[in-house]
Amino acid sequence: MIVLGLNAVFHDPAAALLIDGAVVAAAEEERFSRRKHGKTPVAFSTWELPEQSMAWCLEHAGVSPADVDAVAYSYDPDLAFQPNGDITVAEWEGLRTLYARRAPLFLRSALPGLRPERVRWIPHHVAHAASATFASGFDPCSVLVLDGRGERASHLAGRSVGGDLEVLATQELPHSLGLLYEELTAHLGFRRSSDEYKVMAMASYGSPAHLDEFRRLVRADGDGGFVVEPVDFARFAPPLAPGGEFTSAHADLACAVQRRLEEVLLDLARWLQARTGDRNLVMAGGVALNCVANSRIWREGPFERVWVQPAAGDSGTALGAAMHVAHALGETVAPMGTAALGRGWDDDALAARLETAGVAYERPDDIADAVAEALAANQVVAWFQGRSEYGPRALGHRSLLADPRRPDNLEKLNDIKGREQFRPVAPMVLAERARTIFDGGPIPSPYMLFTHGVRPGWAERIPAVVHVDGTARIQTVDREQEPLVARMLERFEARTGVPVVVNTSLNTAGRPMVDDPRDALECFGSSPVDLLAIGPFVVRRAGVAGAPEQTEAQIAA
Ligand SMILES: [Fe+2]
Repeated sequence: MIVLGLNAVFHDPAAALLIDGAVVAAAEEERFSRRKHGKTPVAFSTWELPEQSMAWCLEHAGVSPADVDAVAYSYDPDLAFQPNGDITVAEWEGLRTLYARRAPLFLRSALPGLRPERVRWIPHHVAHAASATFASGFDPCSVLVLDGRGERASHLAGRSVGGDLEVLATQELPHSLGLLYEELTAHLGFRRSSDEYKVMAMASYGSPAHLDEFRRLVRADGDGGFVVEPVDFARFAPPLAPGGEFTSAHADLACAVQRRLEEVLLDLARWLQARTGDRNLVMAGGVALNCVANSRIWREGPFERVWVQPAAGDSGTALGAAMHVAHALGETVAPMGTAALGRGWDDDALAARLETAGVAYERPDDIADAVAEALAANQVVAWFQGRSEYGPRALGHRSLLADPRRPDNLEKLNDIKGREQFRPVAPMVLAERARTIFDGGPIPSPYMLFTHGVRPGWAERIPAVVHVDGTARIQTVDREQEPLVARMLERFEARTGVPVVVNTSLNTAGRPMVDDPRDALECFGSSPVDLLAIGPFVVRRAGVAGAPEQTEAQIAA
């Protein structure tokens, strides 16, 4: 049975394809269209479908639109605001509802042959929930979904047993922890529903001076939901223009909201566990990308295990909707084993692209060792390997890599990416070595969705990846799942004694992650990256010899 899942309503349009209950492809539209987040989340854009990612998913699996047994659309217009004749009220919400209802007709135009009557509308938060319950493989499990909004709610708490979801609580709008965080993001001069992680990073620089006030404004209601009173952020710190320099007042505000978010999420988790008695919690929704909050839930919450969908934002609802429908149609849905569900190219195709581009390239005996050598010589490496990642994190397929022993590499990478200097970069570490270096979060942690403490003696050795609050958002690399990345880390350790490499997403400011080989060459050509490792090939920047390899003592001196 073939089920195509789609997210098209707000932002991060995406497509996912399940065949006989197994995910065979999933991709975000932004990686194709090269427009970050795919589209603007306004009612007028609801008709736009993830046309390129849908078409690619089908092409990758070798199926035609007519072969699709069901299309799962991650929003249910019947649950949404009903236009009642005037689509202009409530900021055109009715238009969103109309366009969602029209999706089958838009789909028929986008994918000729697809049968419009095969479209099923799945409630937005049910799709988020399914993206975590099925994908985690945890059964039974409790599930928390928190985002800005779905049709009329911002939250779902429930339990999944054998793939059947029981909804235990929801929270209706206007109360929304996701929208509160989005409002703060905009107040601090960042892009809403895009740059929330910058607020999370800024919070580490502040003190929780206003926490008591936010405890009054934002609180769990004791019944599985919560209250968010209207907040006038300007009372705490003036609005910041985009790119404006933040002050301690801004950092204190970010800190108070972040801390309060963590506390309320812990309250919700405790409420849920008291009802389900489950050991396992799974999470999705944009709020679940808050890795600082996730770690507190893991450390202080009542669940033994916590799993977060790597595409926790709306892109993941394409996969969740498809999984929900496959289960409803009687399929056994398999967990996702990897986030590497996007496009990939074989060696011949990569060589052909390099020939077309007319760049000099070589094929070293061992690409992993060649990259380890360059990193140890303090070169920055663009690492393009295998299939691209589903979700916002680079997980060793479309990554920028650097030596973590050098503190100035944080600045260097932020410069390459045109990012704010207060933002941390993250480490990837061999899974079997992770416990000796990091603690305070779940290990393994393959999707970078938790923060960890850095054990004594290690923070000084890997200064580039330790955030101002002493934490690091790690990716553990499993040898079985990611043999090439593991080998690169192993070769780096053999050269330096450190089994950790800096990993950040392969893109420049404001652009989606690199997806295809041409994106990789464009990124390499337009930024001071020293080496591009693309499949088994390397492309070196002219004139870069690399610094001599140095020991930690030499770097410190
Ligand atoms: Fe959502």
